[in-house]
Amino acid sequence: MKIALEINGEPRTVDASPWKRLLDVLREDLRLTGTKEGCGEGECGACTVVLDGEAVNSCLVAIGQCGARSVTTVEGLARGEVLHAVQRALVACGGAQCGICTPGIAVCAAHVVDRGLVARCDDATARVRIRELLAGNICRCTGYQLIVDAVVAAAREVERGRVPEPGEPSEPRGPREVDRA
Ligand code: FES
Ligand code: FES
Repeated sequence: MKIALEINGEPRTVDASPWKRLLDVLREDLRLTGTKEGCGEGECGACTVVLDGEAVNSCLVAIGQCGARSVTTVEGLARGEVLHAVQRALVACGGAQCGICTPGIAVCAAHVVDRGLVARCDDATARVRIRELLAGNICRCTGYQLIVDAVVAAAREVERGRVPEPGEPSEPRGPREVDRA
């Protein structure tokens, strides 16, 4: 069955069983291997993508449900060579270790930041809210503190409206610098 959809802003058509998981279509048919499989049953969040504006576990979505819809994967977060603020902050804050959870966390956190879901919160409230919003993304390495630090730093960058241009050095300030500001 041919299914037309939008992936990372580009129109794509896939020829697959409508029952094939979106996760497998992304990885096998479209070679977008940034999206990872952890549990395969909706528990870990490693496979998170944004589908029509909602963060979903792509291991639980059949491609037959995706016709004429829009999907954003981790490959769609950067603008050219400029990483999304969340990706830069994860690097700057050390919010990734083995990396298996990182694409899903980056997609979910970018969704949180881009939608302003922690805008105008003080840092303590933002941290609580970020932990709630990322509760479906399990990380076995970091203990979450550095991930939360990174998402707060990215949210503050976006709130300040500082969008780096392609080629611009774009190290975000770490959370401790933000705390001192
Ligand atoms: Fe999809 Fe774990 S692989 S939630
Ligand atoms: Fe290893 Fe999160 S960095 S599971």
